[in-house]
Amino acid sequence: MRCLVTGAAGFIGSHLCQALLAQGDEVVGLDAFIPYYPRAVKEANLAAFRAHPAFTFHELDLRRDDLAAALDGVEVIYHIAAMPGLLASWQQFDVYMTCNVQATQRLLRAAVESGGVRQFIHASTSSIYGSHVLGDEQTTPRPVSPYGITKLAGEHLVRVYHEQFGLPTSILRYFSVYGPRQRPEMGYYLFIEAIRQGQPLTVFGSGDQLRGNTYVGDIVRATLLAHQRFEPGSVYNIGGAEEVSANQVIALLEEIIGRRADVRHGPTRPGEQSRALADMTQARERLGFTPQTTLRAGLEAQVAWQLALSRD
Ligand SMILES: NC(=O)c1ccc[n+]([C@@H]2O[C@H](COP(=O)([O-])OP(=O)(O)OC[C@H]3O[C@@H](n4cnc5c(N)ncnc54)[C@H](O)[C@@H]3O)[C@@H](O)[C@H]2O)c1
Repeated sequence: MRCLVTGAAGFIGSHLCQALLAQGDEVVGLDAFIPYYPRAVKEANLAAFRAHPAFTFHELDLRRDDLAAALDGVEVIYHIAAMPGLLASWQQFDVYMTCNVQATQRLLRAAVESGGVRQFIHASTSSIYGSHVLGDEQTTPRPVSPYGITKLAGEHLVRVYHEQFGLPTSILRYFSVYGPRQRPEMGYYLFIEAIRQGQPLTVFGSGDQLRGNTYVGDIVRATLLAHQRFEPGSVYNIGGAEEVSANQVIALLEEIIGRRADVRHGPTRPGEQSRALADMTQARERLGFTPQTTLRAGLEAQVAWQLALSRD
């Protein structure tokens, strides 16, 4: 099976490429190295599998480059590329709009034109729902950040290409993801670096915001299940099992790293979710997915990865 992974050099995309290669697929990776965080970090993600004989890589920008060569012979597209993170979306709206909306539309059109795409699996986010997320996939989306708005627009494009052009699509709404290769501006990455180095760390708001964080290995497994049990037009919440607050995560990290955190508090940031736990009835019943990695095991893996990075 020949598949295309967009965002192949990113946090989630690179793990997905490795899992697909491990199960014997032929993987075409695509990434534009958008400078949201350093290219060197993304090159290091890619280095883990770039030399694999079943992997080819195209440095292309979905917003403007010709996509025909990357789509040649591709049957399954995993569209993971996007501008992630909500804070910067207040300042850099044009990059979010073009990478999350225009890029998605160009890829959808190229998929229809190629004629050979049997599955288009699209990475979306719990941020399309809004600040307090507890319901199932039928909950009315009410995003509270430009990031969430552009990702919701991307979802609508996916739906429209399914309904109007018969493209077989599936949308996966990932809930906050963590684990090795987490993006360097994400909360847990910053918490671990601060505790490790004995630096102060900032918690925005009270730290009581609740999240059902998802280990990246579980995200990848759910994505592979969405392919194996593919249902055209489907939408799934994909989240973790345990609901925890930032304060509980910090306490757990103190235990794992063996050092106290110097916690400072800052104001709540605009667009932040107060509570986000996935209702995963659909993913459980139709995909057979349940998250398997405990928060402790997942954080231990991320800490080990960051400690190894600091020694390099
Ligand atoms: N990390 C999370 O907690 C999380 C949670 C929910 C949803 N998601 C979604 O998962 C996906 C992956 O997120 P991530 O955390 O791995 O982010 P990431 O930034 O690490 O990876 C995204 C990759 O996409 C690439 N990209 C962006 N725009 C592109 C374009 N126009 N052309 C080609 N490549 C482009 C970037 O260069 C980057 O390497 C995104 O769709 C994001 O919205 C992530």
